[in-house]
Amino acid sequence: MRRQLFWSNRVYGGELTSMKSSIFLPCAILWLTLFSFLGCEPDEETTVDAINLSFPTGFPEPKIPEDNPLTVESIELGRHLFYDTNLSSNTKQACATCHLQEFAFSDGKKTPVGSTGQPLTRNSQQLTNAAYNGTLTWANPLLKDLETQILIPIFAELPVELGVTGSEDEVLSRFADNAQYQQLYADAFPGQANPVTWPNTVKALASFVRSLVSGNSPFDKLTYQDDPSEMSESALRGMDLFFSETLECHHCHGGFNFTESTVHSGSVFDSSKFHNTGLYNVDGFGSYPVNNQGLFDVTSVLEDTGRFRAPTLRNVAVTAPFMHDGSVATLEEVIRLYEAGGRNIESGDLSGDGRKNPYKSGFVAGFTITDQERNDLIEFLKSLTDDEFLNNPAHSDPNP
Ligand code: HEC
Ligand code: HEC
Repeated sequence: MRRQLFWSNRVYGGELTSMKSSIFLPCAILWLTLFSFLGCEPDEETTVDAINLSFPTGFPEPKIPEDNPLTVESIELGRHLFYDTNLSSNTKQACATCHLQEFAFSDGKKTPVGSTGQPLTRNSQQLTNAAYNGTLTWANPLLKDLETQILIPIFAELPVELGVTGSEDEVLSRFADNAQYQQLYADAFPGQANPVTWPNTVKALASFVRSLVSGNSPFDKLTYQDDPSEMSESALRGMDLFFSETLECHHCHGGFNFTESTVHSGSVFDSSKFHNTGLYNVDGFGSYPVNNQGLFDVTSVLEDTGRFRAPTLRNVAVTAPFMHDGSVATLEEVIRLYEAGGRNIESGDLSGDGRKNPYKSGFVAGFTITDQERNDLIEFLKSLTDDEFLNNPAHSDPNP
């Protein structure tokens, strides 16, 4: 059965696999692969390889900043930088230390430590379709573009991630003095006398992250490609539950990217939305653990306590452990929390009944389902796994 659940059903094209640009590509997909040649006439002289990108049918165009066009060359530079430990001051970490392709660019840990050993309080986010996120990180309405967000892991001092502050010149010289990087920067930023700069480094990383687009899961095949063959009966039943008014999941995890915090080139709605799902209630007045109170830490408004961005559920079956602090181990546990209408922690420092958190969203009221239905819902979440994305060589370490 074909089900159309989303606002956009425009067709941009299927998978692109190492096509030459001299091959005709429909105008509609040119923006992503060959943004720099915006005319729709194929350029016979150009021999740039289009990237091996799983480009989803039915997705709208993401927002791309005018001063950072998405080109094959900037994505390639960004990919090298993303996997290079030379990007950290002490050469111990790369972006890829905390964002691993096999885990949809999360890291499989509850919370990571930075390059100097400082612990972080938040779970490493997965990066599937980050290009479409209306706000970035778990709870920050001020971070709206990748070029701004990426400054944090590179330069932040509390806590240190890559720890570059204080050694900016030294770190940059590692790339400026390297022949391969000289070429990669020159290709990505042509016509510049000295392209090896921090702004260009950040732009290239943002382009690579923007290229991490996933939309070829069994669910996508059913919904956009009229191919139900990979959806089990159980996953189909789970899909009906997911989109039902009893479970309410789709209110916060709706749209083509399974989060209402979505922007694209035609967006008109404000996508800065954050919710308290009743994970904690440490003092009985709604508090979350200190220094990890979600939106409240940015706004200091009490009602914002425990409010976080609903993450995309694409590839969620490979991104355990879950939630902003990695405190939920399995998908079954996640669903049981929603069934209960929050989490009751009975003992220890963090004890408290999250079900009674005064700031909890009205959509997390609890519901009753059978064991079979719970399994069906898990099977549906698994049908959002895009194996092609997780194994796409274009997203992998260029120097394994
Ligand atoms: C030490 C681990 C670590 C390193 C290194 C790291 N990250 Fe992250 N990343 C995280 C964590 C943790 C979060 C969530 C932060 C938060 O919510 O405060 C995150 C969030 C993000 C996000 C936001 C995703 C979203 O959906 O909003 C992006 C994009 C990102 N990182 C890209 C990068 C890039 C690019 C690099 C390298 C320059 C990098 N990260 C280095 C741990 C890390
Ligand atoms: C009121 C909005 C809302 C509703 C309704 C909702 N969620 Fe969520 N969901 C969130 C938020 C916000 C988070 C992150 C919470 C946190 O980290 O504290 C989340 C996290 C998750 C995660 C963990 C994802 C990750 O990467 O860690 C899963 C899985 C999930 N939700 C599935 C569901 C399912 C299934 C339903 C329906 C039964 C549902 N959600 C209903 C807002 C919602």
